[in-house]
Amino acid sequence: MTKKSKSKSKFQAPRGMRDILPEEQLYWEKVKQVISSSAKAFEFEKIDTPILEDKDLFVKGTGLYTDIVEKEMYSLTTRGRDKLVLRPEFTPSVVRAYLENGLFSLPNPVKLYSIGPIFRYERPQKGRYRQAYQANFEVIGEQDPIIDAQLIQLFFFICKKLGLKKLITQMNSIGCPECRPSYRKKLMNYYRSRKKDICSNCQKRLKQNPLRLLDCKNIKCVDIAEKAPQIIDCLCDNCNNHFKSVLEYLDELEIPYILNPRLVRGLDYYTKTVFEIWPEEENGRQISLCGGGRYDKLIKLLGRKDIPAVGFAIGLDRIINLIKEREIKITSKSTPPIFLVQLGDLGKRKSLKLFEELQQAGLKIASSFSKNTIKAQLKIADRMNVRFALILGQKEAIDESIIIRDMISGSQEVVHLSKIVKEIKKRIKK
Ligand code: HAM
Repeated sequence: MTKKSKSKSKFQAPRGMRDILPEEQLYWEKVKQVISSSAKAFEFEKIDTPILEDKDLFVKGTGLYTDIVEKEMYSLTTRGRDKLVLRPEFTPSVVRAYLENGLFSLPNPVKLYSIGPIFRYERPQKGRYRQAYQANFEVIGEQDPIIDAQLIQLFFFICKKLGLKKLITQMNSIGCPECRPSYRKKLMNYYRSRKKDICSNCQKRLKQNPLRLLDCKNIKCVDIAEKAPQIIDCLCDNCNNHFKSVLEYLDELEIPYILNPRLVRGLDYYTKTVFEIWPEEENGRQISLCGGGRYDKLIKLLGRKDIPAVGFAIGLDRIINLIKEREIKITSKSTPPIFLVQLGDLGKRKSLKLFEELQQAGLKIASSFSKNTIKAQLKIADRMNVRFALILGQKEAIDESIIIRDMISGSQEVVHLSKIVKEIKKRIKK
């Protein structure tokens, strides 16, 4: 499909939401395919949860004073007076499903992944949508720091398959209920004496969610946050050792990282490790491709005894934007390896039958019978990233032959029509 100019129609997609057109599906298919196969390789099992959930699940799980719960949820009341929201993230939903379905009786750890939309009423901008798509991974029932590192390894595994390099891992630990209160006190003391110099949002955060003071983007606050006491200096031995081990595993995996003392994440459930991975060129803009961390207290909070867990989510929209920006060529399993080009009346007629014969022979083939010139058809074949074009023109139709064009090298070869299936299969296998 060719690119269309946008026209002002009577109805438009809701602000911050968009259509994913056929020409974009190749990227989505490929990214989802790579994520699913990588999830399997790392022994994750798939779980789908409802898009609508009980509002209180997020009020309790994500946290009352988080941006998500305070300002970003799409909520509704059903005819039966149930208060529901469009899920703003997966983690509380997956934990609910884990508890509700008794998955805690399975051998530990339980490793679950999901792919789907999330909804946040944020200010739309590049890479930030009100309906965004995540691939979400959770490992429940294991506190070993190797799992934290393995999740980051999984992200790099996926990126490598997609041809994405030049990524920066941001690491921090935000402690646990044992060490965080004394750090919070320290932080609040530091900020109290600077209260008049911070933005009004931060003045609120000082009362409700002091850790979030550290990641305020307001220029007034950035400098103050940079000089604030760092949690890393206040971690208890347990958190400190855990974090050190995570970093050692990353060293072992040769995954480069930066310690970012201001990375606190916008969700309340985290303990110990938190991380985000940014593209290099966006450094400073904090447009994370993925984010996650450990949440050892959430499962108890939502209704069961202490069960440690760790997870992360990948922003699919941002991954796809980056693949496009960096002009990475994508081929998908569903990309047909061959494209049938037809020219002239006789060529067109013969191609119609040949198209079916090739399909019957088990070959995936694309064509554009409504286009008549070789240039237009090869252009489509190139955009589809096919490996070979088969060209059947007037001359070939008379000679009972066909041209095989290698779309990478541009070289062409004429073969007899009766041998085309065998010849093309041989080339595809290579
Ligand atoms: P999060 O950092 O809010 O974490 O989202 C994870 C990723 O989703 C982000 O890094 C970003 O790529 C993408 N994302 C989030 N919001 C948007 C948006 N409005 N537009 C485009 N992309 C977006 C979580 O959601 C946690 N539940 C992750 C997690 C799983 N932690 C533990 N387990």
